[in-house]
Amino acid sequence: MLSEQFISELKARSDIEDIIGAYVNVKRRGRNLVGLCPFHSEKTPSFTVYPDSQSFYCFGCGAGGDVVTFIRQIENLDYIEAVKLLAQRAGIPMPEDGYDDSFAKLKTRILEINRETARFYHRCLISPMGKKGLDYLRGRGLSDKTIRHFGLGYAPEDWDATIRHLRTKGFNLDELSAAAVAVKSARGSYYDQFRGRVIFPIIDIRGNVIAFGGRILDGKGPKYLNSPDTPVFKKSRNLFALNFAKASKEPALILAEGYMDVVALHQAGFVNAVATLGTSLTAEQARMICQYAQEVIIAYDSDGAGQKATNRAINLFGEIGGKVRVLKVHDAKDPDEFIKKFGAVRFRLLLEGAGSAMEFEISRLRQKYDLESSDGKVEFLKEFAKFIADIRNPIERDVYVTKITEELRVSKEPLVAQIDYIIRQRAKNAERKQARDLTVFASSPKDRRDPQRDAHLKEALAEERLIGVLLKNPDYHRFILERIQPEAFLTDFNREIFRVICERVEQNRPIELIALSEQLDERQMGKVAGILADAASTGATQKETLDYIQTILAGRAKKSPEQLKQMDREELEKYVAGLAAKKK
Ligand code: UTP
Ligand code: MN
Repeated sequence: MLSEQFISELKARSDIEDIIGAYVNVKRRGRNLVGLCPFHSEKTPSFTVYPDSQSFYCFGCGAGGDVVTFIRQIENLDYIEAVKLLAQRAGIPMPEDGYDDSFAKLKTRILEINRETARFYHRCLISPMGKKGLDYLRGRGLSDKTIRHFGLGYAPEDWDATIRHLRTKGFNLDELSAAAVAVKSARGSYYDQFRGRVIFPIIDIRGNVIAFGGRILDGKGPKYLNSPDTPVFKKSRNLFALNFAKASKEPALILAEGYMDVVALHQAGFVNAVATLGTSLTAEQARMICQYAQEVIIAYDSDGAGQKATNRAINLFGEIGGKVRVLKVHDAKDPDEFIKKFGAVRFRLLLEGAGSAMEFEISRLRQKYDLESSDGKVEFLKEFAKFIADIRNPIERDVYVTKITEELRVSKEPLVAQIDYIIRQRAKNAERKQARDLTVFASSPKDRRDPQRDAHLKEALAEERLIGVLLKNPDYHRFILERIQPEAFLTDFNREIFRVICERVEQNRPIELIALSEQLDERQMGKVAGILADAASTGATQKETLDYIQTILAGRAKKSPEQLKQMDREELEKYVAGLAAKKK
């Protein structure tokens, strides 16, 4: 366990505003700061930072906690790793030992396995055994230099050649299956995850091999097989070739769909190309792209699926305020094929001619309607107004409105009036949402439903308020514990939080968030942060505290608060003691 002295120093030197500010664009509102939540996708800000309590809470998804919780979630780290990162940033040396770093050790081990596996696959590719793979890659136009640069490989067509090799290097089966290079069969034997495929190693920005993508050559199975998520890999948080692209000095990143597109683009000199890893773009990936580039150029496949994915990506970038252009590959299905057919110079021209996201959306929209007919025009203009209302800059809006009204030969004023109306309406809705966020705490965010809480909403709320009282006024703990024990709580989730806090208060240990994050997990920290956010506006007088307690006890006993109020203190205490005893 880390010493309290260390934790309090870490806290003093890790201001939540600075730390969150490095990841999220937050704006001051009163004492607090608000911004778009980095943990779910949203258009109006629900993510709030509370400098007073050094906490954050998202009213949309329920994520919340202290700086350590934030770093854990955004960097995908465990508790100790997050503390290490913060300590490093603050320039405080980590205590030498006394904490459990077995998870960190496993991760190091997995990275070693991955590196060795990548080397093995590459050696196989350039050995006689890998001829099929090498012929394939050369056949697709890749030079030996490109193959080496990306460390491409070949996984032998064998059940366990990779496992056997890695075992000679001293790795055991548990480690290999944690790294997901080995898979455990139903019968308990282990076989290679990748067999008879050409391999694209996935390398993170620190240069670690974190996963693999494997393309089939023949036979059956999915065209591409990707590593599942492991302790060192989350596909939603990484991008293929970002390790190279981040050093490209280009102001933009090119976002393609496939591994082969990216490899072909890099070979042709477009070293700022990246791709997602077998899934569609996530909000996290969009944010990463915006971190590394001023602008993204989407270069997806030209088929319907690619165009739909483009539309989705535009929306995601729109939500986080990233600048987008869209490249259209003509007469080829994807950038890889385009470069092969027409060469790098023509691709450069395509890049330069890439239109704005708005132009892409408008041209998509135009294709949906028959603009020769009056009905078609009306429907188109209604949709068009909604799109244009998204543009913040009035001059930019005017450019598109003028262009379209001239093309369709309709007058401008009604369209402008409609757009202004939509903008006003949206602003009103956003305001309402913010007001609602502050009161909506009573119903927990949708993706973190707790059935027990739903069944006892009133009591659960009282439990939470009581936890809030205790957090804000630790000196009330006698008063509270004389009247209620954790056992009386109706929801297991709140009971555990209450128990931990009570225990710490009794041991005179700190109960600030940063201290609690050592004992509470992410969901529990989210709840605590939510309680603190709510506590600012709820009462903590003795009378209110008693009300909370009585609500909980009444829920337990299925007795009404009125009945309980009529009990005198002795009766009440006996009753609570009875509850506690029954539980044991
Ligand atoms: P595509 O099928 O467009 O791949 O899938 P591609 O790059 O054009 O493939 P080639 O040129 O035939 O080799 C695009 C991306 O979608 C993911 C992969 O990341 C692929 O690069 N994908 C596709 C899978 O994860 N699994 C699949 O079975 C297919
Ligand atoms: Mn392709």
